[in-house]
Amino acid sequence: MIRVGLLGCGNVAEVIAGDDNGINITALFDSVHSHAEHLSEITNAPAYEKFEDFLAQDFDIVVEAASVAAVYEHAEDVLKSGKDIVILSVGALADSGFKNRLISIAADKKRRIRIPSGAIMGLDNLKIGQISGISKLLLRTTKNPRSLRIETDEKTLVFSGRADECIKQFPKNINVAVALELATGHNAEVELWADPDIKRNMHEIFVEGDFGDFYLKIENNPCPQNPATSYLAALSVITLLRNLENPMVIGT
Ligand SMILES: NC(=O)c1ccc[n+]([C@@H]2O[C@H](COP(=O)([O-])OP(=O)(O)OC[C@H]3O[C@@H](n4cnc5c(N)ncnc54)[C@H](O)[C@@H]3O)[C@@H](O)[C@H]2O)c1
Repeated sequence: MIRVGLLGCGNVAEVIAGDDNGINITALFDSVHSHAEHLSEITNAPAYEKFEDFLAQDFDIVVEAASVAAVYEHAEDVLKSGKDIVILSVGALADSGFKNRLISIAADKKRRIRIPSGAIMGLDNLKIGQISGISKLLLRTTKNPRSLRIETDEKTLVFSGRADECIKQFPKNINVAVALELATGHNAEVELWADPDIKRNMHEIFVEGDFGDFYLKIENNPCPQNPATSYLAALSVITLLRNLENPMVIGT
């Protein structure tokens, strides 16, 4: 079974580390060591205080469930060490220079950078954008104002524009837009709405292209342990890991 090192031991990591998931977690690292120690109690995997010690352990793949900063700090070293990486804080790859550097190292080392579907669905077939025309790619995200750390009594458009502009103002809300851009190979328009009447994060994706039209709406249940995180994001990493060694590959 594939051996996993967890970089980031917060809400998503705790769901991944859950009892019944069949994920073989063998090493843990978090910049807040007590978070790694907490997951160590659940998984029995050792928690390392130094990233170098974590990375030196004998496992196959790093799952990053930490932050954009953690991807900048550690992804290159992970690939150079000969391990694959799953990147959940995909907003880091909005920086095309950084993204291209990672891809080049991965190619050189014959390693893989894997981007899970995260908080949405449909990334698999949106890759058709890489080989056929797409005339519209719009992501409309609606969240409770508390999630965006703003105050408003009515539904308000808080951002409208390109994904690479959105990341400057709302860096924690850009992962889905960047994942869509990476999948399709096209720039995404982003609308970010704050709505005090909704409790669940909602993503709507509008795509038009040579293939026809596509509309997807997803309302995410929060993680059981923490309402700030979408449960689907953790589930998407678990299924990615569980399918890595599956002889039948579906929907890619
Ligand atoms: N792609 C998606 O659709 C999607 C969906 C949900 C979450 N995410 C991203 O996944 C990440 C994890 O989400 P979460 O809800 O578990 O967050 P969280 O805040 O609950 O946990 C993050 C953990 O990572 C640790 N951490 C942060 N920066 C670090 C660093 N530089 N080095 C080592 N450890 C570090 C924190 O101490 C914390 O324990 C976030 O960046 C979030 O934006 C992506």
